[in-house]
Amino acid sequence: MDAGYTVEQLRAAAADAVRAPSLHNTQPWRFRLHEGGIEIVVDQARRLPASDPTGWGARIACGAALYNLRLALAAAGTPASVRLRPYPGEPDVVARLVPDLPRRPTPAERSLHGAIGHRFSNRRPFWPDPVPADIRWQLGEAARAEQCWLELVIGTSAVNAFGEIARSAHRVLDRDPDYRAERAEWTRAEPAPDGVPAAAGGPQSEPQDLLPQRGFGNLHRAPGRDFEPEPLVAVLIAAGNTATDQIIAGQALQRVLLTATDAGLAVSMLSQPIEVPSAREQLRLSLGRFGTPQMVMRIGFGQPGWPTPRRMVDDVLDLPVSRL
Ligand SMILES: Cc1cc2nc3c(=O)[nH]c(=O)nc-3n(C[C@H](O)[C@H](O)[C@H](O)COP(=O)(O)O)c2cc1C
Repeated sequence: MDAGYTVEQLRAAAADAVRAPSLHNTQPWRFRLHEGGIEIVVDQARRLPASDPTGWGARIACGAALYNLRLALAAAGTPASVRLRPYPGEPDVVARLVPDLPRRPTPAERSLHGAIGHRFSNRRPFWPDPVPADIRWQLGEAARAEQCWLELVIGTSAVNAFGEIARSAHRVLDRDPDYRAERAEWTRAEPAPDGVPAAAGGPQSEPQDLLPQRGFGNLHRAPGRDFEPEPLVAVLIAAGNTATDQIIAGQALQRVLLTATDAGLAVSMLSQPIEVPSAREQLRLSLGRFGTPQMVMRIGFGQPGWPTPRRMVDDVLDLPVSRL
């Protein structure tokens, strides 16, 4: 197809893209409209120097935004042809999307697209009900469809061993005053277009908790309101750990999150064991898998919650020069 997307089509798709998750809700992306296509660019000004020194988190977030963009364009009838990291001289350009042949969206594309606006990180305790086997399978398929794997940590001893790795990584990170300062800086007591609202931050930690909470806001926790004793822990694994692998993992993450949302499940992310290299290696060895763990999710049936704020789409859109 010769004609490009219209600015209106791309603005609508970018409005879906910004609903993607990001470390501390920093939203480290810009969307550049160029010759009828759209490019996602890492916004280095919004990368967290202490919490994300390598840029892994920003690339995961941009990969997730890229998946939403692909889904929005497909759901609107003109899927994109995507090139990852298209310009060797501009490594921050995550992807360029141009129109492919128009076609009707599949039912799966429609329902995943419909889930974008309902997805949110649910950091509260989940109900103890297990995630049914057919949904576990769907989550694995979602990761595989995006060239990743989803490894479910099954059984009390495996979950306990994972908890130990995650808590120890959390302690390592928490010893760094710059890391703590960034977390505090991005926790929002007042309404804001970015950062983690304190009300979404989950209840304060207690010594008996199996998994570490990142601790945004530390909501009051009533006695006995413990987390589920055996959470479904899922580790997203990519083939490797290059910048491209991380962008691929971000897309797979978002497909898994939307598949979970569409199935009525709640998810929270915990990335401490990914951010500490020794913990990540321990996790990889404990799973006995090739590839590189890129994210960990806690999945279950959750209490109601609500999506967190985002910046306006026009604040992250760079229009073609000719239209300025
Ligand atoms: C790379 C990455 C790492 C994250 N790590 C954590 C984490 O360790 N703990 C946590 O509670 N949330 C984590 N999150 C979730 C973000 O805090 C969340 O996506 C952001 O605040 C926006 O909120 P939403 O997911 O409700 O839209 C992570 C998200 C990304 C993309």
